[in-house]
Amino acid sequence: MELLKASDLVKRFGNTNAVKGINFHIEEGRCVSLLGPNGAGKTTTLKMLSGLLEPTSGSIDFKGEKAKDLRPFIGYLPQYPAFFNWMSGKEFLVFAGQLAKLNRKEAEKRGEELLERVGLTNAKKRRIGGYSGGMKQRLGLAQALIHRPKLLILDEPVSALDPLGRREVLDMMREIKEETTILFSTHVLHDAEEISDDILIMHAGEIAISGSLASVREAYRQPILQIELESQAADWLNRVASYSFVSEVNIQGNKTSIVLKDIVNGKQTLLKDIVERKLPIRKFEISQTTLEDLFLKVVKV
Ligand SMILES: Nc1ncnc2c1ncn2[C@@H]1O[C@H](COP(=O)(O)OP(=O)(O)O)[C@@H](O)[C@H]1O
Ligand SMILES: [Mg+2]
Repeated sequence: MELLKASDLVKRFGNTNAVKGINFHIEEGRCVSLLGPNGAGKTTTLKMLSGLLEPTSGSIDFKGEKAKDLRPFIGYLPQYPAFFNWMSGKEFLVFAGQLAKLNRKEAEKRGEELLERVGLTNAKKRRIGGYSGGMKQRLGLAQALIHRPKLLILDEPVSALDPLGRREVLDMMREIKEETTILFSTHVLHDAEEISDDILIMHAGEIAISGSLASVREAYRQPILQIELESQAADWLNRVASYSFVSEVNIQGNKTSIVLKDIVNGKQTLLKDIVERKLPIRKFEISQTTLEDLFLKVVKV
């Protein structure tokens, strides 16, 4: 079932077109990553979905209806969360619960549940100022879940963390996604690949590619030939680029990767070339382009 749909969503800041009319939807129960380099428009998009920024134009539907105020349905963890360092973890969650309109008793109960959920029960009475980065981010997750939102929106939840903190938070997200739909942004492909079901690749205010992780991988996969020579062979490689079965040639020193449209023909012709020209070959390997190749290509243009 479709939980949220963004239609022709635009955000301009003065002359900056941060988000240029994007369309996408989020299915209930999925973990969706919004992947893109810095400045792509991820934070702006997430803030519009969370109701923190008014779109310049376009609309957001929640469960098929135009939504005025999405805040009851959405939990949001900002890119740079601010905590009151003098509060304890428990005090902070009770405070957040009351802001989300729970009464004191409910906020206390829900706070305890969530502290348990994010593994902070033992640290609940300690001041937040003494928490590690991973602990703070887990407390941030608990805060975003306090009112049992239908959709959890996390802006770069692991980007600022050291490897240990990153692992803690990704593991936590993997557990949370069993019960709550998640949309999170990241500029790190690896994070998107690790836990998302669906992926939206954003670049320069637009969504360049979207779909399930598996289908995007499949749809954009191309055969690629990696060749390594003992010396450079610029003449030949220039010729290779003009073969009709070649779509791309990338040369890095003695290593060259050749993206092929036709693997059978490509392999035969290039091998024949190498033998005939007596090129000093060190490696001739066939593989497939990865999501990383696709991502780099999208963000380069
Ligand atoms: N409040 C603002 N005022 C002016 N420009 C902004 C503002 N917020 C974001 N931008 C610009 O919008 C673009 C997208 O920014 P942002 O959504 O933060 O990207 P990301 O989160 O993908 O790094 C950038 O060019 C940024 O400089
Ligand atoms: Mg951002």
